[in-house]
Amino acid sequence: MVLQGYPDPGEGLRLQLNENTGGCSARVLEAIRHVRPNDVSTYPQYRQVVDATARHFGVDPDWVLLTNGLDEGILMAAIAHIAKPRVHDAETIIPQPAFDPYPNSTAAVGARAVWVPPGPDYAFPTRAVIDAVTPRTRMIFLNTPNNPTGQLIPIADLERICEAAPHAVVLIDEAYIEFGGTTFLPQMARYPNVLLGRTFSKAYGLAGLRVGVVIGQAQALDPVRSVTLPFNINGVAMTAVQAALEDTEFLPRYAAQVRESRERLYAACRRHGLTFWPSAANYVMVRVGDTAPFVAAMATRKIHVRDRSKDPTTPGCIRITAGITAHTDAAIEALDAVMASRQR
Ligand SMILES: Cc1ncc(COP(=O)(O)O)c(C=O)c1O
Repeated sequence: MVLQGYPDPGEGLRLQLNENTGGCSARVLEAIRHVRPNDVSTYPQYRQVVDATARHFGVDPDWVLLTNGLDEGILMAAIAHIAKPRVHDAETIIPQPAFDPYPNSTAAVGARAVWVPPGPDYAFPTRAVIDAVTPRTRMIFLNTPNNPTGQLIPIADLERICEAAPHAVVLIDEAYIEFGGTTFLPQMARYPNVLLGRTFSKAYGLAGLRVGVVIGQAQALDPVRSVTLPFNINGVAMTAVQAALEDTEFLPRYAAQVRESRERLYAACRRHGLTFWPSAANYVMVRVGDTAPFVAAMATRKIHVRDRSKDPTTPGCIRITAGITAHTDAAIEALDAVMASRQR
């Protein structure tokens, strides 16, 4: 049987899915507590939250589509631009390492994934992505900062790719951009073929409520809107997003914790002679060698990290979430113990 969701790692600190380790804003919980019976018994309204989200991103509300997590936005984009027009021999371009929903959505709509391996030290392979563009290319999935490496794609490189494939839709996934790097948002007016993906799961700590955002001009976004089910997100999640956007102090405070946590993780890796990649996101990828015993040893110390070794482009690597500094300190304590026991 195929599991719905991911396996429950059990008791301990969840540092395996890049969630917000501090939870969501208290104002979000307060707003949810005030939900009335009719807010639950009626179908949700989206207008107010679409407008608030558009204001937050500084774009026209017509450019905004709220989705059931960015995951849904990724699948709907593939359906809209590949399955619905029934494009035969369609290709998507996926730079590696990549977030699973890109190949999964590609397969779901019967397209062929064209993989592009990373450059040395995970340098973004801009030239190779451009060289992979053909008349059959329908979508290009770009992720900045990259999950799992944390590497950014320079804005100029994103522009070069968008210009090299005007016949394709370029989906720029900025799920972690609040933690570092520069958003492509100001460039969006110049690219009718771009969809920009954002999420409330990570920086805002709403992963359990499932709200993502797809931003784009009509040419790229309207087809996605037309295949998205009318009541795709629940009303309680809309209440939560409204409150999350009103709490303007929450995000900078959490992002500062993440930055400090990354530094502490780098220092711990240096102490243990472990290779790591400086990250712009709320996680750090580390090469630990034999990953399975490492991940198991961390888990027995109640620290859950993600094994990335199945991906051929990240052999021997794990990924660890950088959240609240106290949580990072607990993870480092476990890391110290695991590394000490390796030496025996
Ligand atoms: C790169 C990337 N994009 C998108 C998502 C999807 O986020 P959500 O569906 O929770 O909005 C994730 C979540 O892990 C991610 O890592």
